[in-house]
Amino acid sequence: MREAPESTKAATVPLDFLGDLRRTHTCGELRASDAGRRALLMGWVHRRRDLGGVIFLHLRDREGVTQVVFHANLDPEVHRKAEMLRLEYVIAVEGRVEKRSPETVNPNISTGEIELVAEKLWILNDSRTPPFPLEDDVEVSEEVRLKYRFVDLRRPRMQRNIILRSRVSFAVREFLTSQGFLEIETPFMTRSTPEGARDFLVPSRLQPGSFYALPQSPQLFKQLLMVAGLDKYFQIVRCFRDEDLRADRQPEFTQIDLEMSFPQQERIFEVIEPMLEKVCEVAGYRIQTPFPRLTYAEAMRRYGTDKPDLRLPPMYAVEDLFPPGALNVGDFPLMAIRIPGVGQLSRREREELKAFGSERGLRVYDDLKRLERDFPQALEQVRARVGCGSDDLLLLATWAGAVQGQRPLETALAACGQLRLYAGQKYNDRHRLLDSRDFRFLWVTDFPMFEWDEQERRWTAAHHPFTSPHDEDLDKLTTDPASCRAKSYDLVLNGIELGSGSIRIHRRDVQSRVFDALGFTREEAQRRFGFLLEALEYGAPPHGGIALGLDRLVMILAGESTIRDVIPFPKTSRGADLMCEAPSPVPEQQLRELGITLLRR
Ligand code: AMO
Repeated sequence: MREAPESTKAATVPLDFLGDLRRTHTCGELRASDAGRRALLMGWVHRRRDLGGVIFLHLRDREGVTQVVFHANLDPEVHRKAEMLRLEYVIAVEGRVEKRSPETVNPNISTGEIELVAEKLWILNDSRTPPFPLEDDVEVSEEVRLKYRFVDLRRPRMQRNIILRSRVSFAVREFLTSQGFLEIETPFMTRSTPEGARDFLVPSRLQPGSFYALPQSPQLFKQLLMVAGLDKYFQIVRCFRDEDLRADRQPEFTQIDLEMSFPQQERIFEVIEPMLEKVCEVAGYRIQTPFPRLTYAEAMRRYGTDKPDLRLPPMYAVEDLFPPGALNVGDFPLMAIRIPGVGQLSRREREELKAFGSERGLRVYDDLKRLERDFPQALEQVRARVGCGSDDLLLLATWAGAVQGQRPLETALAACGQLRLYAGQKYNDRHRLLDSRDFRFLWVTDFPMFEWDEQERRWTAAHHPFTSPHDEDLDKLTTDPASCRAKSYDLVLNGIELGSGSIRIHRRDVQSRVFDALGFTREEAQRRFGFLLEALEYGAPPHGGIALGLDRLVMILAGESTIRDVIPFPKTSRGADLMCEAPSPVPEQQLRELGITLLRR
């Protein structure tokens, strides 16, 4: 249906009151079996076509679109009123449902077999011409979309995403409640929770110079709930982190957060896997459980990352198939990377892969012809080991020189992993393995307890400082922190970290030792987490939990590539809300009340 040319706004449109008008159906509801019935619909004018004696409208609400017809010969007055309608006007229309003739049936809409022959029309509100057409396939800059988010959210794709989000949240609530979890709220105005980002601070008027921190997660409170005996807590909760933003990061985002008493990590997995089965069902997908598991060390060795995308094959170490030191340097492995179905690469494509590798310190052997000549047998064995077909791309990569850092092998493997992913993503149009509807969940377990912070030159908690070390690593916390493993686990979906959790420290003595290993002085530990340390002295049960990113989960289920498309009112990458223009300066008076003077305006 083509649109009639629009003026910015019709001169003056007489508006009607809603009065006691009541909808009989939504715009997505009427079917051929309703033919002959009377119906009263309300919604927005989505499209219009004025043929003179007949005006066709598509009337839209969140449930769908219904075609409405105004015939001049039926009621000239109603027809004249319909002539005033423009896109996005809000109307109510009453009439008779009629079956369309077979050649006018519209198979693209659920109501396509009928139309509503209008007998009465109420114009409830007019509208300025929308800043962009409300079709899904129209290219609109994100800046404009976010500025007019109330219009952008009317687009069918965005409506689908927000509705999916609501259904996912409901499925989570329903499932966790059925498993005996309690939904409990925790404070937003609180103290700092260390999750590795900066805090958003809220100044206190009643205690000038003091600040609340918005929670980076409810971590400490959910642990305190376990100490309080409120086993099986959950919350779908907003978290706040002042960190650099990316496609899958927002300064405020939502977690599906839970905690249990007396669990092993398996007990947590036993809750999450069926919950995700239910959630995926809501989105129309069936998934396989239990999810595969890899330890962090295995994930690094086979994928060069702690968030492997299992839709691409793993890497294999193959240096043992060549004479010692022939291709690899020192102890570093020679990794074989296979990307299925890519076919022959051009010289320029091979150079690109090589350059990508060398920027990350790798030496990439892409010229297999030469290797074939020098090591024919070894290459055949490589192909057999990685299961390489004739149409597959095979890359051999090793570290080109010395590696810095506390875990040099991991640095080298990570670079190989990046090359694997880069090649996999670059040639997806050839192999099509990275299908957004192919959900490959994975548990990654046994993370290192600590990470070395080169800038601060100290060990930091790889997860957070309340994560329990493995029982057998307890004695190595201060003597050999690099080798300590944590009882922590990540849930990964198609290369994205969907969730993270751990079994917590429930003993005061162990928590103190971990704080020692992290270089916290007793005073600092007491000042920041005194309340938690004290709680651990009052009969804290063994406990553990997890938090999943709701935004990321919905993004993947909706097939979107940024969480901004599944959040009704997101921020830009500069942390701005373009619609309500936040953040914004505040009046001097307000600052004075809070005891704040700005260094710069
Ligand atoms: P973590 O910090 O790993 O763990 O967060 C859990 C999950 O939250 C999501 N997430 C985000 N999503 C969007 N924008 C962000 N800025 C953002 N940051 C995190 C991710 C991530 O996996 N308290 C622990 C959980 C626990 O131990 O129980 C925690 O918050 O999907």
